[in-house]
Amino acid sequence: MLDLRGIRHHFNGHLAVDGLSLHVERGSCFGLLGPNGAGKTTSIRIGVGLLKPDEGSVSVDGRGAPTDPEVRRLIGLAPQSLAIYDDLSARENLLFFANLYGLSRGDGAHRADELLERVGLTERARDRVSGFSGGMQRRLNLAVALVHKPMLLLLDEPTVGVDPQSRNAIFDLVREIKGEGVTIVYTTHYMEEAQKLCDVVAIVDRGRTMAVDSVAALVAQHGGDSVVRVTSGEGVREVSTDTPMPELQKAMQDTTTTAIEIKPPDLERVFLNLTGRSLRD
Ligand SMILES: Nc1ncnc2c1ncn2[C@@H]1O[C@H](COP(=O)(O)OP(=O)(O)O)[C@@H](O)[C@H]1O
Ligand SMILES: [Mg+2]
Repeated sequence: MLDLRGIRHHFNGHLAVDGLSLHVERGSCFGLLGPNGAGKTTSIRIGVGLLKPDEGSVSVDGRGAPTDPEVRRLIGLAPQSLAIYDDLSARENLLFFANLYGLSRGDGAHRADELLERVGLTERARDRVSGFSGGMQRRLNLAVALVHKPMLLLLDEPTVGVDPQSRNAIFDLVREIKGEGVTIVYTTHYMEEAQKLCDVVAIVDRGRTMAVDSVAALVAQHGGDSVVRVTSGEGVREVSTDTPMPELQKAMQDTTTTAIEIKPPDLERVFLNLTGRSLRD
């Protein structure tokens, strides 16, 4: 559904994207996971045709570059920096973008009301966006991206600055949209989100893809051992091992043990093992 091949891009001599290639299967949820500054937003902007790369090519659904308006129409983008108007109401924002995409007044109104309902903003439909919480603005930003029923939806850090309730609402909605067959590209620096939502995750750092696979495969291949953490009379001890049982037995026989925890490898560990850095910078 989306193919990025050998993308490179500089900003004033600084290499933001360094030969990145991605292949997003139709109907899948593809995660771009990496710390701030990894090049996720730049890659997304190139993927939707907002930015022309110095090198490389982009193709959407085998139909060519997203700079072609026909191709661009297939794509919905919820950008990291909100793309909604503060001094319009939630409903007016949706009507405005519906009109921009050429929906008739009737269809636009119908779509706006449907989306307001889906993102839980029906009650606030006629209120100005400037009075909305961060979470409400994010939800509207997502609704705007869906107004023209795109086949491919790109969500750039859709949960940044969002309260837990909005976060859950956004998660549920992304799952629903995926269930309807829309292909999703989701960028985040939160491991838990990628782990919960994405079929395939690309680990990106310094403008490069370090690994691409399902979460389970990435963890199996690059996650390393489990860590057994034991709190006892001697203090806290952490042992890294692929056979945690003997460690557990030892800890259980020690009468001073007060806590035992097994931490299986996760995406954070995959990232650390691949890059020597933490996802949380
Ligand atoms: N418009 C811009 N002008 C100059 N540098 C930029 C611009 N956009 C991004 N960068 C730089 O490119 C790198 C990648 O940024 P970005 O794609 O926003 O990363 P991410 O979305 O993963 O946080 C960063 O070092 C950032 O400072
Ligand atoms: Mg970004």
